[in-house]
Amino acid sequence: MFRQKNVLITGASSGIGSALAERFAQAGAQLVLVARRKDRLTALTKELKVHGVAVHNIVADLVEPGACDRIVSEAKRAVGRIDVLVNNAGVGEYGRFHEQDVDVLENMMQLNMSALVRLTHRVLPDMIERRSGHLLNIASTAAFQPTPYMCVYGATKSFVLNFSLSLWEELRRRGIGVTCVCPGPVKTEFFDRGGFETQKSHMTRLAMSADQIAESAYTKLSQGRTAHVPGMLNKLGTILVRFAPLRTVTRISSKLLAPKS
Ligand SMILES: NC(=O)c1ccc[n+]([C@@H]2O[C@H](COP(=O)([O-])OP(=O)(O)OC[C@H]3O[C@@H](n4cnc5c(N)ncnc54)[C@H](OP(=O)(O)O)[C@@H]3O)[C@@H](O)[C@H]2O)c1
Repeated sequence: MFRQKNVLITGASSGIGSALAERFAQAGAQLVLVARRKDRLTALTKELKVHGVAVHNIVADLVEPGACDRIVSEAKRAVGRIDVLVNNAGVGEYGRFHEQDVDVLENMMQLNMSALVRLTHRVLPDMIERRSGHLLNIASTAAFQPTPYMCVYGATKSFVLNFSLSLWEELRRRGIGVTCVCPGPVKTEFFDRGGFETQKSHMTRLAMSADQIAESAYTKLSQGRTAHVPGMLNKLGTILVRFAPLRTVTRISSKLLAPKS
């Protein structure tokens, strides 16, 4: 389905983004990979050579002013048009809100929300004109309920889920698919940063692999699904929270996420 389509993936230098790059390359898609770490992108590009697809790298910090506009212009110069935009880049800051650095939190909000909105806004006019295109947004199971100790991160992911669903409704008669994938814990570098030290083993015990997430995201995108939660346990959790009072849900969430020390 995505053979010879041009796919732009943000956050492709590690984790879910790298796995998605591999999955789209297997399917014969041409790739534009975006991240800050040039060495990682170069190494991945070498690995993807076995699939015989063209891979173009753009080294960029999505939070820098003008970065999203530059990325889309450079991608279009390199591959002509963008058929699929994968908004995957994101970070998760963990800790007690009042102890967190507000500049770091703002940086996360810009990356997880503003960059995603701006990139989407930049690629959509061409897709609407062609009446074809796909948007794949990576949110999180954190999108479905309040997340004490990840207050701001969870809120950014609720934003991504709600934005994606609204956009799906606006665009569904225009030939453009919007799929939002909401993973639970995944074994990636995500937990190596963001103050997760006390939570890391707990969070990663039931974690899925980035390859599993990429496979299921790829499948659901191909099927035109709107929102998808990979993994039975994760899915069950997102269903159960709908039936409990919000305060109860928040307190259970707090028990799971609270710092151990
Ligand atoms: N891992 C989990 O448990 C989990 C669960 C649910 C949802 N998610 C979501 O999945 C997505 C991918 O995360 P991951 O788990 O694969 O984590 P990861 O391995 O840490 O990957 C994050 C990616 O984002 C890129 N990135 C970070 N800041 C950036 C910036 N300012 N500009 C451009 N790129 C930037 C990183 O590349 P550079 O550092 O090279 O720039 C990296 O490629 C995120 O949106 C995350 O919220 C993860």
